[in-house]
Amino acid sequence: MTGFASPAARAAFIAALPKAELHLHIEGSLEPEMMFALAQRNGVRLAFDSVEAIRAAYEFSNLQDFLDIYYQGMAVLLTEQDFYDLTAAYLRRAAADNVRHVEIFFDPQGHTARGVAFADVVGGIARALDEAKGRGISSRLIMCFLRHLSEAEAEATLDEALPHLHLIHGVGLDSSELGHPPEKFARVFARARGLGLKILAHAGEEGPPDYVWQALDVLGVDRIDHGNRALEDDALVQRIAGDGLTLTVCPLSNLKLCVVKDLAAHPLRAMLNAGLKATVNSDDPAYFGGYVNANFIAVADALDLSRDEIIALARNSFTGSFLAPEDQAPHLAAIAAHG
Ligand code: ADE
Ligand code: ZN
Repeated sequence: MTGFASPAARAAFIAALPKAELHLHIEGSLEPEMMFALAQRNGVRLAFDSVEAIRAAYEFSNLQDFLDIYYQGMAVLLTEQDFYDLTAAYLRRAAADNVRHVEIFFDPQGHTARGVAFADVVGGIARALDEAKGRGISSRLIMCFLRHLSEAEAEATLDEALPHLHLIHGVGLDSSELGHPPEKFARVFARARGLGLKILAHAGEEGPPDYVWQALDVLGVDRIDHGNRALEDDALVQRIAGDGLTLTVCPLSNLKLCVVKDLAAHPLRAMLNAGLKATVNSDDPAYFGGYVNANFIAVADALDLSRDEIIALARNSFTGSFLAPEDQAPHLAAIAAHG
């Protein structure tokens, strides 16, 4: 064991570190208990008759398997209060993990397609984020386009977002990656950039290195979500490292979606060794078995991560965030105090 007396000592070290979470789908934080409670409150029928039955259904062999269940689950979210409650519950869990800054994705098309008002989705999430500010958790909100839908539908979603851009910091690209390359969305991302929004994309989770190149060269991303398969292409690794781009890596997600066969085979250390700014995130914690600390601990145990590697990951979470440097500084100083 590298530098720690025991796994428990490493877990305690991880738990005590200040962290930012940069890759979290708020709909993916919908725990089965809340899914049940909201189904009752809203009179929505679920395909499952108990919390245990829901959890038992969370066995996935790829991304699409998961997405099919994820879109079903979010059907219980109907009102502004539902989005507030969902976000407030996530923020309580994040605070318990010593997460001090969050950059949260939401999938408006998963809701507006069911007749939920865009304003209720963004309003409920933003109300909870605003309240958390008073408890010392800062945040950014990132709107994702569903890549299995058309670019025209993404354009319509950006139109709907226009009155709410004071609440939205960036746009991302998620859902089924294979067969939906970033270049499919070139025009809508160019418009988003013109509006001053940050640009992100899930790339290289299941998709090939070429999709990561497109995220860089066609979309002009400010950050890459996942990026695992970038490691298959040395020139791509050099490009990402040279540009100083951050990767938002999600170990338990990768395990549950069979992106890696076990965590001992996870590329996180290889990313750090290649000079990539990797971070550790939970993606969809209610579906993948853990929040930020659980992700850190699981991958640290599997790879026997050292104190320096864990500190680098925590630092990257702030330096890779969209916080201004002066707002990153106190967090970096607090991490240094743990070194
Ligand atoms: N939507 C929610 N989680 C996702 C993931 N891991 N990849 C792509 N789309 C997603
Ligand atoms: Zn994701």
